[in-house]
Amino acid sequence: MYNQRKSTDECVIATLIGAINTYLTPHKKNISGVGDVLKQISLATMKENFCKNNSALPAPKADILKTAVRNISAHTLNAIRECLILATDELIWRQDEDEYYAPEADLGDGYRASNLHALLIGPSNAKYHHPDFTLGIFLLGPFTLYRDHFHLAPELYVNLTPRIGWRFQGGEWIDYSAGSLIWNDSNVVHATRVYDKPFISIFSWTRNIDSPCKVFKREDWKRLEQELNDSK
Ligand SMILES: [Fe+2]
Repeated sequence: MYNQRKSTDECVIATLIGAINTYLTPHKKNISGVGDVLKQISLATMKENFCKNNSALPAPKADILKTAVRNISAHTLNAIRECLILATDELIWRQDEDEYYAPEADLGDGYRASNLHALLIGPSNAKYHHPDFTLGIFLLGPFTLYRDHFHLAPELYVNLTPRIGWRFQGGEWIDYSAGSLIWNDSNVVHATRVYDKPFISIFSWTRNIDSPCKVFKREDWKRLEQELNDSK
């Protein structure tokens, strides 16, 4: 079972999970799903033989990651930022290479070019193991539209970036600030737009993590992508 006591001496990843746990706990009552995330975190087990086994990030990705972490400026996120700085080099950072989407999915260039994630808890590539739950860090590069999509897995995001746009079920775009939480119930269609600063977030899938993500076509993608491009 995930053990926060280990955090003090040896494991920066455990310390980061602890900081996320602490941040989420007060939101248990007002955000649907947070309680389940906390429960699943408590059920994760440590992998004794975990070691980082992938090569260093290519320079553009490493730069996006560094900038994104540096931009976490909200006072309430201080603990998470400090733990993230310490844990960054211990995590396995990966790009989605048709792991979550079918190869022919109409995701556009933005997501494919700039997505990056690392798991803290998950069935593989994570220090802490859970067979059907993930907790991790997710990034997208600036001026990116992450097109409308949905998945069976219920999903929690904690936005760490100062300003990030979301829309749900094709509704109006809403800008969210750092520290805000997004809960996407199973199969709710959602999209994200990233402005001038890279998007960094905590994300969690609480069950059905093997079910694929699917794109939900909207007619305004090209216009939105053009607007982001024009604002560079
Ligand atoms: Fe999602």
